[in-house]
Amino acid sequence: MEFLATGGRQLRGELRVPGDKSISHRSIMLGSLAEGTTHVSGFLEGEDSLATLAAFRAMGVEIDGPNDGRVEIRGVGMHGLKAPDAPLYLGNSGTSMRLLAGLMAGQAFDVTMTGDESLSRRPMGRVADPLRTMGAKIDTADAGRPPLTVYGGASLKGIEYVMPMASAQVKSSLLLAGLYADGKTTVTEPAPTRDHTERMLRGFGYDVYVDGATVSLKGGGTLKATNVDVPADISSSAFFLVAGCIAHDSEIVLQNVGINPTRIGVINILREMGGDIQLENERETGGEPVADLRVRSSNLRGIEIPIDQVPLAIDEFPVLFVAAACAEGVTVLRGAEELRVKESDRIDAMAKGFDVLGIENEPFEDGIRIVGGNFGGGTVDSLGDHRIAMSFAVASLRAAAPIRIRDCANVATSFPSFLELANKVGLRVTAE
Ligand code: S3P
Repeated sequence: MEFLATGGRQLRGELRVPGDKSISHRSIMLGSLAEGTTHVSGFLEGEDSLATLAAFRAMGVEIDGPNDGRVEIRGVGMHGLKAPDAPLYLGNSGTSMRLLAGLMAGQAFDVTMTGDESLSRRPMGRVADPLRTMGAKIDTADAGRPPLTVYGGASLKGIEYVMPMASAQVKSSLLLAGLYADGKTTVTEPAPTRDHTERMLRGFGYDVYVDGATVSLKGGGTLKATNVDVPADISSSAFFLVAGCIAHDSEIVLQNVGINPTRIGVINILREMGGDIQLENERETGGEPVADLRVRSSNLRGIEIPIDQVPLAIDEFPVLFVAAACAEGVTVLRGAEELRVKESDRIDAMAKGFDVLGIENEPFEDGIRIVGGNFGGGTVDSLGDHRIAMSFAVASLRAAAPIRIRDCANVATSFPSFLELANKVGLRVTAE
């Protein structure tokens, strides 16, 4: 599927983007292992979180929905999962595979997990290696790639792990294995990463200890069912935050967006570039802070992106690069080598697209230098990456000619209603 993005004019309106992907995954995982029935609202009905949902159904959990974002999960308790009849196919979803690797290490049965072409290229050694240190038995294909087979019946022991990279997926995988481990599991991160697992474990009544950059829990406890109200995804909102800044004479409001401090790098960075973004109606739902975000047309300027913001904006860089391309002056990002191992190599994907569209840039192993300029039109390739596809659709707002974007079907992994909402506020993007 291709997108044809022909720009748009003034962006106006209020919209609620779909539920947070990270929180949606975790709601299914913890709800399934809890005692009692968990009710989820605002669940993201995207392919990635649905892959997690299907995996738990395949392991015997009764799950109703999703129905308009509502899901009812009849928890089976910590030891109630059953062996699936077939390998678990997790599509494009790295979060599903990495978090499940930890959870599966604590089960009594064997599981094999597979994924699509993109997921099959992604590194799993970052979870398999520390899980093996905990006592898990895990097979991977060459160079730690999927498929992953996790053998049941291992006796896990808690470890103290200092993560070599800032990764919430690795942290979460080890904490989930730690639920089944003997003793205490401790993970230290080199920089703060999203803490949804820690918050939600507490919501399900599990003690989690945080001391600076170190988080720990003791194995052997139980989870109690609860209700999870999933806020709108700040990562999906990011496309509209940038669109609202770069479109002329525009103002949009994004409702009920999760503004967890470990996720708001995109707001901090856009504001530092001169973006006019206001937080309104700040409140808390289900242990997560939310707000309505009002964004207006802004004259952006290039900046050196502060390194401490990198993990806090890790999924938003493709669209932040579009903001940089529309800014006056030069923007430089360093310390973001993780972008090379996402759903695509996001530095390479954006640099190649910018080359086609006439935006001067210089990619580095760990970042990119972007010179603000004028977008031309042309055909770019999303490399099957949802966030690259949506970023170039946003770029069309400032392009002199239409942008055709190849390989866009994976937008459905995180934001199935993107085209509908984008057109509703004034962008012009169609699927062909
Ligand atoms: C996620 C963590 C991040 C992020 C991904 C979702 C999560 O990955 O890029 O989209 O839900 O834990 P890393 O932890 O590998 O950086």
